[in-house]
Amino acid sequence: MSLALKPSLGVAIPPPFTQYSSLQTDRVDWESMAQYVLGKAAVAVIRICNPPLNTFSAKTLLALQQEVKHANIDPTVKAVVICGANGKFSAGADIKMFSSLDRGSTPSLGSVIDLIEKSDKPMVAAIEGVAFGGGLEVALGCHYRIAHVQARVGLPEVTLGILPGAGGTQRLPRLIGIPASLDIITTGRHIWAAEALKLGIIDEIVEENTVEAAIRFAERMSDHPVGLHRLCSKQIPSLPNMDAIIKEALVKVKKQARGYLAPEMCFQAVVASLHLPFEEGLRKERDLFHFLLSSGQAKALQYAFFAQRNMEKWTLPSGASWKTAAPKPIQRAAVIGLGTMGRGIVVSLMKAKIAVVAMEQDKNNLEQGRGAVMALLDREALRMQQSGQTLDVHKPGLLHFTLDFNALQDVDLVIEAVFEDMALKKKIFHKLSTVCKPEAFLCTNTSCLDIDEIAAVTRHPHQVIGTHFFSPAHVMKLLEVIYGQHTSPTAIATAMSLGKAMGKIGVVVGNCFGFVGNRLLGPFRDQAHFLIEEGSTPEEVDQALEGFGFKMGPFQVSDLAGLDIGWRLRKEQGLTGASLPLSTPPRKRGGRRYSPLLDFLCEKGRYGQKTGKGWYQYDKPGGRVPKSDPWLHGFLADYRNTYNITTRTITQDEILERCLYSLVNEGFQILSDGIASCPEAIDTIYINGYGWPRHRGGPMFYASEVGLSVVLAKLQKYAEANPDIPSLQPSPLLRKLVALGSPPVSEWSSLVGSQNSKL
Ligand code: 3HC
Ligand code: NAI
Repeated sequence: MSLALKPSLGVAIPPPFTQYSSLQTDRVDWESMAQYVLGKAAVAVIRICNPPLNTFSAKTLLALQQEVKHANIDPTVKAVVICGANGKFSAGADIKMFSSLDRGSTPSLGSVIDLIEKSDKPMVAAIEGVAFGGGLEVALGCHYRIAHVQARVGLPEVTLGILPGAGGTQRLPRLIGIPASLDIITTGRHIWAAEALKLGIIDEIVEENTVEAAIRFAERMSDHPVGLHRLCSKQIPSLPNMDAIIKEALVKVKKQARGYLAPEMCFQAVVASLHLPFEEGLRKERDLFHFLLSSGQAKALQYAFFAQRNMEKWTLPSGASWKTAAPKPIQRAAVIGLGTMGRGIVVSLMKAKIAVVAMEQDKNNLEQGRGAVMALLDREALRMQQSGQTLDVHKPGLLHFTLDFNALQDVDLVIEAVFEDMALKKKIFHKLSTVCKPEAFLCTNTSCLDIDEIAAVTRHPHQVIGTHFFSPAHVMKLLEVIYGQHTSPTAIATAMSLGKAMGKIGVVVGNCFGFVGNRLLGPFRDQAHFLIEEGSTPEEVDQALEGFGFKMGPFQVSDLAGLDIGWRLRKEQGLTGASLPLSTPPRKRGGRRYSPLLDFLCEKGRYGQKTGKGWYQYDKPGGRVPKSDPWLHGFLADYRNTYNITTRTITQDEILERCLYSLVNEGFQILSDGIASCPEAIDTIYINGYGWPRHRGGPMFYASEVGLSVVLAKLQKYAEANPDIPSLQPSPLLRKLVALGSPPVSEWSSLVGSQNSKL
C-alpha cells in the first residue's frame, strides 16, 4: 500500500447509482455502487448523514448499524466505503447524548464498530473534513482509511472530560504504538492528514474526490482477506525501553493535569492495551469512561464546550444577530504599533491570509518590530509545515512595513496597538478617520480604556470597535469584541467574523473600564494582595490557586507580566503610595482598602522576572524559575508592623474563597450592568484568556456547582469582617438568584432582564 501523497485518479464513477434512500437529517444513507464501478467488484457506500458534522445521535447509530448489516448480507456487495455527508466524516458521538441515561434500544457505538471490524468484506473509511472522537473510532474499526489532504483526525474526548469510549484507546495503540497514542489521546490534539499519514493512522492521502478514491481503493481490495487489517487482532508494536517511555509519559501527564482527571484516565486506558487482551482492554476502557462520565469534571467541560459555541449565536437586543448583520470582507488590514501585542496580531492576520500593513512610530521601532514579526512568522511557517499546512510568509504584497499613515488609505480595517494612553489613542484615531476610507473599521486593542471616548474623535464612530487580544496574540484564542455606544452591528459582525478567520474565540462584551476579563481580575488580585498583608505569603496564595487548577498563581503571573505594568501609569498620575492624599489614613482610597505593596516593590526596582526579583527571586534578570525570597518575607513582616496589621494564620479555604468568590461576585455585577450578555460569556472569557481551569467550567458555572447560597453566605461573612472591601459585598443579583431558589446557569440571563444592557 502506498504511503505517498496520492491524488485521486479523477475517473468519474459512471452514474446512475442505485440510491436506496435520500439524504436527510439523522440518516445513514445507502448507495449501492454494485455493477457500475469499472464493471468489476461491487462497492457499497454508506454515508453518515447528521448535519452539520455527522455526529452519532441515537438515530444515526441505529441507521449505521442497519446499513452495515445490510452491506454484510447483500451478496452483490464485495466491499464497503464509509463516508460522511457534505464533506465531513464525523465529529464523533453527539455530546448532548451523554446526559440522557435512557438509551432505549440504541446500539452502543462500540458494538457498531465491532460489527464493522468483524465484517469479512473490506471496509474503507473515506475521511473528509473531520474524523474526531467516535468518528475516528469508526474509521479505526474499518480495515483501511483514505483521507483528503485537508482532513483532520483526532481523539479529543479528553477535552470533554472523558476518554475515547468506543475502542479508540485499544485500537490506536495497535495501529501506531504506545508513545504516539499516549500523546494523541492524553492531549486530544487535532492532527492534519499529512501527519496522520506519517504516523500510520491513515493509509493514503488524496487531493481530490476522497470518496471516489476510496471506492477505487475498496474495489482493489475487494478480494483481499481483511484479517490482517482488523486492529483488534494486531499486536502492539513493542519497544525496548517501553517502561521508561511509560514512566516519562505519566510524569508529563500528571504535571499538566493539575487535578484534571481525564488525562490520567486516558493514560491508564492506553497502557491497559499493552498488558490486556483486546476484549479485556475494552472492558477497562468502558469502566474508566463511565467513571469519568459521572464526574463533575465531564459536566463542566461539556458545559464549557457549548458555552463557547454559544458565543457565536450572540444576538442584539433588537433580535438581529451579528451573523445576520452581514460581516464585511476584510482583504487588507493595518496594525499600528509593533510592540508585544501588535507583533502577534500581525501574525494572526497573516495566518488568516489577510494582507497586512504594519506601522510604527519611528525607524528604530519599525526595524525591531519587523525583525520580531518575521521571526514569529518563520517559526509559525515551520510549525505549520510540520503538520502539512502552508503559510506563505514572503509572498509579495502580503506584508508591508511603514512609518507613513498614507499607506493606510486603502485598508479595510485597522487594529491600533500603541501604548495604553488615551491622549495618544485619540490622536491616532483622529488621524485614521481622516486618512482611511470612510467604510474602514477602526479597532483598538486597549485593555481597559473607554471605546466611546476614542470613537468620539472620529468622523465615523459607528465604525469604531474594541478588539481586545490577549498576550501572546498569535497564540491566545480569546478575543473580546467591545461594543461601543455607537458601534454598528456590521462592525461587530465583521470583528467576530475576522476573529473566527484568525482562529479566535470572539466574545462580544459591553464598554466599561476593563470590559469583562480585566474587570473580573481586579477584585481577585486585590484579595491576593490583602491576604498577604494579613498574614499569608505569596507562596501560600499561589499554591492554593494552583491546587485549584490555575497553571500559575497570581503572584507568579504578576512576576511574569511585570509588576511595573500599570504602576508606571498610576505613578505618572500620582496615584501610587500608601496614603492619598498624604493626610488620609494609610492603605485607603476613598474609604476603600488599598494595598500599596506592589507600589513599594516597584519603587525598589523589583519588577518581577525581568529584574530577577519581584514577589519571588530568580537566579538572574530574565530567569524563569521562582524561588522563595527571605527578603520579601522580612519586608512583609516590617510592613505589617508599620501599619499595625495583626498577623494571623490564613487557611487555604479562606484564600480560595476570598479570591474566587470576589471574582464571581464581580461576575454577577457585570451581568447586572449588562456588560456580558450571559454567564456563559464570562466563563468563556475566563477559561480562554485568564487561565481558569477548564475542568471547573468557568467562574459562574463553578459558583452554581458550589451552590449560590454557599457563595452568598461566605461573601456575607467576609464582607462583615472586611467592611472596607466593597467587592466582598454580595451583588444584588446573587441575592436575587438565591431568593429564587438558585436556578441553573442557563436561566440567569432571563432573570437579569435587558434594561441595563450595554450590548
Ligand atoms: N456533539 C454534539 N454537537 C456537536 C459536536 C458533538 N460531538 N461537535 C460539534 N457539535 C455542534 C456544535 O455544538 C455546533 O452546534 P451549533 O451550530 O448548534 O452551535 C455545530 O456542531 C458546529 O460545530 P462548531 O461550531 O464547533 O464547528 P467548527 O467548524 O468551528 O468546529 C469541530 C468543528 C472542530 C469538529 C468542533 O465542533 C469540535 O471540536 N467538536 C467536538 C469534537 C469532539 O470532541 N468529538 C468527540 C465527541 S465525544 C465521543 O466521540 C465519545 C466517543 O469516544 C464514545
Ligand atoms: P508595547 O509598549 O509593547 O508596544 C507599543 C508599540 O506602539 C511600541 O512599539 C511603540 O513604538 C508603538 N507606538 C507608540 N506610539 C506610536 C505611534 N504614534 N504610531 C505607531 N506606533 C506607535 O505595548 P503592548 O503591550 O503591545 O500594548 C499595546 C496595547 O495593547 C495597549 O493598549 C495595551 O493596553 C494593550 N494590551 C496589552 C496586553 C499585554 O499583555 N501587553 C494585553 C492586551 C492588550
